[in-house]
Amino acid sequence: MKKSIRDFDLNGKKVIIRVDFNVPIKDGIIQDDNRIVMSLKTIKFAREKGAKIILLSHLGRIKEESDKEKNTLKPVRDRLSELLNYDVIFSNVTHGKELEDKVNSLKDGDILLVENTRYEDLDGKKESKCDEDLGKYWASLGDIFINDAFGTCHRVHASNVGIASNLPNGIGFLVEEELNNFKVLDNPNRPYTVILGGAKVSDKIGVIESLARTCDYILIGGGMAYTFLNALGYNVGSSLLDIESKDFCIDILKKYKDKIILPVDSIVSKELGSDIKLKNNNEFSPDDIGLDIGDKTIEEFKKIINKSKTIVWNGPLGYFEIDKYSKGTKEILDTLSKLDITVIIGGGDTASAATNFGYKDKFTHISTGGGASLELLEGKELPGIEVIDEI
Ligand code: 3PG
Repeated sequence: MKKSIRDFDLNGKKVIIRVDFNVPIKDGIIQDDNRIVMSLKTIKFAREKGAKIILLSHLGRIKEESDKEKNTLKPVRDRLSELLNYDVIFSNVTHGKELEDKVNSLKDGDILLVENTRYEDLDGKKESKCDEDLGKYWASLGDIFINDAFGTCHRVHASNVGIASNLPNGIGFLVEEELNNFKVLDNPNRPYTVILGGAKVSDKIGVIESLARTCDYILIGGGMAYTFLNALGYNVGSSLLDIESKDFCIDILKKYKDKIILPVDSIVSKELGSDIKLKNNNEFSPDDIGLDIGDKTIEEFKKIINKSKTIVWNGPLGYFEIDKYSKGTKEILDTLSKLDITVIIGGGDTASAATNFGYKDKFTHISTGGGASLELLEGKELPGIEVIDEI
């Protein structure tokens, strides 16, 4: 069993908590604060125990100087302050005197949020390549390291693996809850159905291979369905095609032809946002783009869902951000919300759809991890967890 935040005496200690505040931000406004809200339990616990808290997180990707401003954690500091009703201290820099002075003047119960750890990527990708010295430097700022950034556990970064390798460490409550929820899938009640959507097959090859072995059905929708349909010989018009994954689709369809269920119809448009039509698989014109599953597919998917006892869903079934392509995702969310079975939703987009359409509290678990939850489903070890000490 992994050590957890409960296993430490936090009083008066400088506790570095790696959180995942990689939240969608548009024009300085946070679009979905779920990851911040979900981290509160650990932060509040550390505060109540009298810790001096140092929060580290990445946000977006930093490739050039101009990426810094749009990926500052300042809006997160403001939201976190509101949620805690406390003025969170902020360090504008990720190393150096300003940061060190702010750390050294923390009083018990204070919270310091450090600017985006990926600012360090401008200097030889130090954060993303887990630079040893950077990990040691950040570790030198604290006494204890807690990893509560489930969404980042599949990454080997200086701010998770690097620090953990240099300090007494444990996991936080968010990571603990995520791991417990995914554990159910080691021995799922059956039928066990996986719903997969999203854009690219290539992002999900590992997970499809692994889940096809263990689950009873895989329902495939979203952009990735069209590569599968193309592999079956359908003309999918101008729909998203992940041509380098076509051979994989042909093989997996052969191997698991009774488990993999594909759309039989789709909502199509000539351009994103233009008029829609409902078309069967054999009716696509060359300029049709498939943007949602159609009514017959929704019904087919519902039949399987209604007889399932465990469901995992990763990836939306259509371009749900635009209302006219959101019916498939909404109807499946609605169907799932009425069932008294285990439903685990993973992946940033699917989680956002569930939250935005009002189904946030209707499921067993909505994961805060995208790539991390996919790797867990694939049966991979997550480096951010592996590095944490056992009790
Ligand atoms: C995520 O949103 O999946 C995590 O925060 C990891 O972000 P990344 O894909 O930019 O590493």
